[in-house]
Amino acid sequence: MKKTLLLAFAMMIVATGAYAQKKTTANNKRIPASVAINDDGTRNDNSAKVLATIELPPADMGLEMPFREVLKNRCTQRNILPEELPIEMVSSLLWSAYGFNRPEESKRVAPSAVNAQEYDVYLFNHEGIFFYNAEKNSLEMVAKGDHVKDISEQKFFQEAPIALVLVANYDRMEMFKDKEVRDFYAAVDCGYISQNIYLFCSSAKLSTVACGGINRDKLAKLIGIKNGKAMLAHPVGLSK
Ligand SMILES: Cc1cc2nc3c(=O)[nH]c(=O)nc-3n(C[C@H](O)[C@H](O)[C@H](O)COP(=O)(O)O)c2cc1C
Repeated sequence: MKKTLLLAFAMMIVATGAYAQKKTTANNKRIPASVAINDDGTRNDNSAKVLATIELPPADMGLEMPFREVLKNRCTQRNILPEELPIEMVSSLLWSAYGFNRPEESKRVAPSAVNAQEYDVYLFNHEGIFFYNAEKNSLEMVAKGDHVKDISEQKFFQEAPIALVLVANYDRMEMFKDKEVRDFYAAVDCGYISQNIYLFCSSAKLSTVACGGINRDKLAKLIGIKNGKAMLAHPVGLSK
């Protein structure tokens, strides 16, 4: 009996050690957004220049609804108004989607397999494309122009004031040697971010749609995706 307990204890230590090792490896491989930007403004992962930076206000708008009601109201709504959203709302939306809820541990509101944190969130509006720098709580313009219409051909999408594009960066997923396994985890991780967007929109009474029918080739060129994929896009706006 004593021996079995000792063996179980020893196995627990080995298992915990292995997991801790795995976590450290994952964190080392992660390229935090701020580190990925070079002195000259280019990115290591997509080499886009930062043309302008918008500091975001704290994320404390639209998050008051009781959770039961948030779940009750969660739905896909294509009745999106073209009106601009207040910047406070945009800040809360981005934080809810993919912000850091435990900044001291570099951890986010959405989980990711082996803590790869492989997603980058881009905000498209009718003036440009912006990288969401969650660490700095800012939006960094990486391209000018109205490219919302380039994401999707669906009318409700093109009329939305903003759209979030969820991009998996496979450079942060090198721990998955098997491509099928990597793609599986990238798809699962995407779902958490997408659901966070849905839940925030429910809470803030906004309309959104998870859109898989998007122009991935165009997005890869616009964003400068080298080793990754634009998985889903969410147009977001006030409801009609
Ligand atoms: C992965 C995924 C991809 C989707 N792609 C599209 C899309 O390209 N266009 C669209 O109008 N709706 C799209 N939807 C929305 C679904 O049609 C919607 O979630 C479904 O009808 C269920 O409705 P509900 O979200 O209100 O429960 C997508 C949903 C998911 C989860």
